[in-house]
Amino acid sequence: MRKIKTVFFCQNCGYQSPKWLGRCPACGEWNQFAEEEMRKVDEGDPFQIGFNESPMPIEAIELDDNERIKIGIAEMDRVLGGGIVKGSSVLVGGDPGIGKSTLLLQVLQNLAHAGHTVLYISGEESARQIKLRGNRIGASSNNLMIYVEISLEAIMHQIEYLKPDVVVVDSIQTIYSSKLSSAPGSVGQVRESSERLILLSKKTGVPIFLIGHVTKDGAIAGPKVLEHMVDAVLYFQGDSGHTFRIIRGVKNRYGPTNEIGVFEMRDHGLFEVTNPSALFLSERPKGAAGSVVVPSMEGTRPILVEIQSLVSETNFGVPRRTTIGVDHNRVSLLAAVLDKICGLHLVNHDIFINVAGGVRLNEPAVDLGIVSSLVSGFLGRPIDAGTIVCGEVGLTGEVRGIGHIETRIKEAAKMGFNRCILPRIVSSDVFSETDISLIRISNLKELIDELF
Ligand code: TYD
Ligand code: MG
Repeated sequence: MRKIKTVFFCQNCGYQSPKWLGRCPACGEWNQFAEEEMRKVDEGDPFQIGFNESPMPIEAIELDDNERIKIGIAEMDRVLGGGIVKGSSVLVGGDPGIGKSTLLLQVLQNLAHAGHTVLYISGEESARQIKLRGNRIGASSNNLMIYVEISLEAIMHQIEYLKPDVVVVDSIQTIYSSKLSSAPGSVGQVRESSERLILLSKKTGVPIFLIGHVTKDGAIAGPKVLEHMVDAVLYFQGDSGHTFRIIRGVKNRYGPTNEIGVFEMRDHGLFEVTNPSALFLSERPKGAAGSVVVPSMEGTRPILVEIQSLVSETNFGVPRRTTIGVDHNRVSLLAAVLDKICGLHLVNHDIFINVAGGVRLNEPAVDLGIVSSLVSGFLGRPIDAGTIVCGEVGLTGEVRGIGHIETRIKEAAKMGFNRCILPRIVSSDVFSETDISLIRISNLKELIDELF
């Protein structure tokens, strides 16, 4: 009898080992190894791995005039860097029920209306269920093909046969290759299916969107290598309690990363939000202590968001530091700076910080916002509602320069703000036309003097 060759895969990161291990040497996770069969490549395989091309000078490579396909949904086009690149593979991850299937069906619907032939492959829902969803979002076109299938070989065959302009696979975890004996959703299957779909997309030039499930800590389920294999990774985020959703690019080989697109989930599908600042500031309380607005750059676009904080004396034990939307360590660091440099005794206070609307801020330019919000919450004194603050804060309490200052100020002016507190270092000649009064500071003491 032929011996079946097996290897052990870490279900978390995809690390391979010939024997079982308790702890993965690559990612450090415990108890993640599962035994899976090795792929056997047989002769005459119609989908042999490899491009079968010969080396050529870069000068000889020809480019199409229209290398990108415009979707016509501006928020989505921007996140992709100006449309879908031919032959590219895009991984879209997100929590269950957030609207991944809805979003991509709408993308395909838009493309179908523009005359492209598109194929939606689902391994999760029946054709009737997709039709029901399609009715809700008004999808009806003969160019939009629905194909319910989980067999990788059948899917690849259909893509080669139909030659659609764009393909969506919902979801990669349901696809099953008969070449492997492991179950759909296992690391081996996910890797095999995505590898071959990505190759097919590169060979034929058909762009493919792969929908991926996420694990409970938010990463795309399956091997980490999946994110390295694809050309772009987008995360569809949002709070199931809120109606708006954000699509965020975390990797993009053909465009800027960290671009976001904002949508609102309504009864008839997702609608674009063209002015996210207005949305995020719409419920802002006026004259409340602890609330401040910061202009944060999301990719190439400035967005005004509100940071709120609640500072109260610790009654028992170690003070709590709870943050939503900003980095926990950053807040601890800034609280320590305020304590040491400005003499605000935050050490025996609980700190709760929240970014309104469920936005996540991760650029250093919001430091000054966090600090202002903490000081305002601690003193119980509100910050003037027409003021925005931006700047990075260093460990000695100095305020450091940041980028894109002009764009940020323009957005603030558009939203009706009249005062901006910013770092002194920023060169002064760039912005002259706005009627916002600019207050330049170089340390936190000056900030507190300006604010209160
Ligand atoms: P879905 O696209 O199925 O999510 P995913 O594929 O990420 O699991 O979205 C399902 C949710 O969206 C569900 O809670 C219902 C809601 N929804 C609307 O509110 N309006 C709509 O028009 C549609 C189609 C869905
Ligand atoms: Mg779905």
